[in-house]
Amino acid sequence: MRRAVCPGSFDPVTNGHLDIVARASQLFDEVVVAIGVNKAKAKARLFTPEERMDMIREAVADFGNVTVAGFDGLLTTFCQDNDIRAIVKGLRAVSDFDYELQMAQMNSSLVDVETVFIPTSPEWSFLASSLVKEVATFGGDVSGLVPPFVLERLTRRLAERHAAES
Ligand code: PNS
Repeated sequence: MRRAVCPGSFDPVTNGHLDIVARASQLFDEVVVAIGVNKAKAKARLFTPEERMDMIREAVADFGNVTVAGFDGLLTTFCQDNDIRAIVKGLRAVSDFDYELQMAQMNSSLVDVETVFIPTSPEWSFLASSLVKEVATFGGDVSGLVPPFVLERLTRRLAERHAAES
């Protein structure tokens, strides 16, 4: 059984993430999408870990070999606990590479795990959750960048935030 993890914050999941998950699901027998639950960063997140997990579950519902989990602490501990030997990361541009290489080398120094880089499809190479949130906050159209149910939750959450701030 070749099992891989696609880790991330997914705040919220974008079409770029889903492209990588879909392609990873063709390469591995089983893929776990693992949402980092870093409590120190909780205030900076737009969605709770449960909300982020719900959205990804809905997005990957049609993939027979993809599951969703949360993890707290080190990714390598999650890999050990779940018998995972491969970490899949999408690379959008050279600018991603420096930090991703450093994390890949750190992770493989900690446990027996390989990082597999998948080049992001060109149509999503500019896409980041942070930019989706920023554009949506100022009323820009992000409907082509996230699944419809994510767009709906995003619009609702931003409206709630806006109402709470005014
Ligand atoms: O979507 P992101 O924010 O780029 O995801 C980053 C994530 C969650 C994959 C990364 O921060 C991570 O692996 N965090 C877990 C903590 C950890 O293992 N840190 C050591 C990395 S070498």
